[in-house]
Amino acid sequence: MTHYDVIIVGSGIAALTVASELCEKMNILMITKTMKTSSNSHLAQGGIACAIHENDHSCLHYEDTLYAGRYHNKKEAVELLVQEGKEIISSLMDEGFPFDKDEQGNVDLGNEGAHSFRRILHAGGDATGRKMVEHFLKKITNRITINEYQFVCDVVVKDGRAVGIITKTADENIHVYTASHIILATGGCGQAYEWTSNHPNATGDGLAIAFRAGCRLIDMEFTQFHPTMLYINGTCRGLISEAVRGEGAVLIDETGQRFMSEIHPLGDLAPRDVVARAIYRKYRDGHQVYLDISEIQFFSERFPTIAEMCWQNRVNLSEKKIPVVPGMHFLMGGIETDLVGRTNIDRLYAVGELACTGVHGANRLASNSLLEGLVFGKRIAKFILDQWLSSQESFGDFHWNEHEKTEVPEKGEIRKILTKWVGIERTHGELAWAVSWLKRYVKYFPLNAISYSIEEIERINMITAGYLIAKGALLRKESRGGHFRIDYPGEKPEWLEKRIVQTNEQRIG
Ligand code: SIN
Repeated sequence: MTHYDVIIVGSGIAALTVASELCEKMNILMITKTMKTSSNSHLAQGGIACAIHENDHSCLHYEDTLYAGRYHNKKEAVELLVQEGKEIISSLMDEGFPFDKDEQGNVDLGNEGAHSFRRILHAGGDATGRKMVEHFLKKITNRITINEYQFVCDVVVKDGRAVGIITKTADENIHVYTASHIILATGGCGQAYEWTSNHPNATGDGLAIAFRAGCRLIDMEFTQFHPTMLYINGTCRGLISEAVRGEGAVLIDETGQRFMSEIHPLGDLAPRDVVARAIYRKYRDGHQVYLDISEIQFFSERFPTIAEMCWQNRVNLSEKKIPVVPGMHFLMGGIETDLVGRTNIDRLYAVGELACTGVHGANRLASNSLLEGLVFGKRIAKFILDQWLSSQESFGDFHWNEHEKTEVPEKGEIRKILTKWVGIERTHGELAWAVSWLKRYVKYFPLNAISYSIEEIERINMITAGYLIAKGALLRKESRGGHFRIDYPGEKPEWLEKRIVQTNEQRIG
C-alpha cells in the first residue's frame, strides 16, 4: 500500500493551491476522476474579486460579501477572504499571472452583481479559471504525483482519524493509499440538477464521501442558481457570465421589456438569488427571457469563450439577444470546516466549494469562489506545514461495511426530483416528499467498492448531496439568499445565526 504525506482529492483551484504550497516539502498525491483540467474552476468565466483599485477598499468588498450573503456569513472568514485575498492577488501579479489590462496598461476591472465597485480581475477575457488552472498546473507539474481517471470511493477513518482512501480506476480495479493528511477538494454538486453551469464531474462526490466518513455538513439548503445559462431548445448549454451584465447587458422579456429595475434597487446587477428568482418567475408565467447585449461593444473580443459557445449553438450575436434561464451554479453550504480547513475528523480537511467555512453566508457574492480556493487552500497548506507530523498507518483490518448491493435511480431521475421539488422556490410538502424519496437510497457507510460501478457511486453521491440539500431546506423555515420557501417568504431574525448541522447519525449512533 503506497503512503503519501498528503492526498488531495480533486484538481480545481483550491486543490492546486494546496499542492503548489506543499509540493517543495512533501510527497503529494493528487487524484482526479477524469482529466486534471476537468473542473468547475477551469470553466470559471467572470473572474476574481479583489479590492485592488486605489479608490476601493477591502472593507467595501467585505460589506458587499455580507450583503449578498444576507448576513448569514461567518464574519471572521469574510475578513480573511478579503484581506488575505488581496495579498495573494498581489503575489500572482508579481509572478506574472496574465490578468487583462486596459489601454493604459492598468489591470482592467470588471463589474458583477451586488458589487459596489468595479473590482473583478479577469484573464483571457472570460477565461479566468482556465488561465489560473494552467498557471498552477505549471507550478506543480513534475513535483507531485497526479493520478487522472481515478475515482475516490471513500475515505477510511480509523479511531476518529482519516488514514487513507479507497479508489477505483476506469477498468474498475481497486487501489488503496494511506496518507498523513487527506484533503477533499472535489467541488460541488450542480450535476444533481437538470440545468447547471457545472462541469459533468460535479456530482457531489466529496460531500457524500465526507458524510459517509462521519463529517458534519452545514448550511446545505443554500444553493445558488445562476441567473443566466444559455437556453436553447428547452435545454441549458452553459454559463453566460454575470460579467456580461457588468458590462451593460440587461434582461428583457420576449416583448423587449426590461423588468429588473422594478424588483431590486440594483436592477440587473442585483444579487444572484434575486435575479434568478425573477427570471424563474417570468418563465413560470409563460414569458421568455433574454440578455440584451446591444450596449456592449466588441462583445466577441471581451467575451471570446461565450461568443464561441453562442456560435456553436447557433445564436446569432448580431441580433444582440441571448436566450437565458437560471441553473444550479454553486453550493454555499458543505462540509463544516474551521478557518484552516479542518473537519470534525482528525487529519481530514475540505476546501473549495464542497467546504463550508461560512464565508459565503446564504448566497455567494459573484467572483468570490476562485478567491476562496486561493485563500483557504493556502491556509490549509500553512497549517499542515506548521503542524507537520508524518505518521504512517495501515488500514489494519478494514472491512466493507455493506455487502448488499442495492438499486440506485438513474441520473436523469435524480435530476428531475431535485429540480422540481428542491429548486429555486420550495414548499414544505414538496421538500418533505423529496426527502423521503431521496432518503431511501442514501448510503451511510463506506460503500462496497467492488459491487458498485463508478457511475453507480456517482449516482449515490448525487442522491446523498441532494438529500442533504432537501433536508436542510425542509428544516429552514424562512427564506434567505439562495434558499427560498414559498410558505415562509421572508427572512426571520431568529434564523439569522442558526446553522442546520447534518451528520450521519446512523454511523455515529
Ligand atoms: C460568472 O461569471 O457569472 C460566474 C462567476 C462566479 O460564479 O463567481
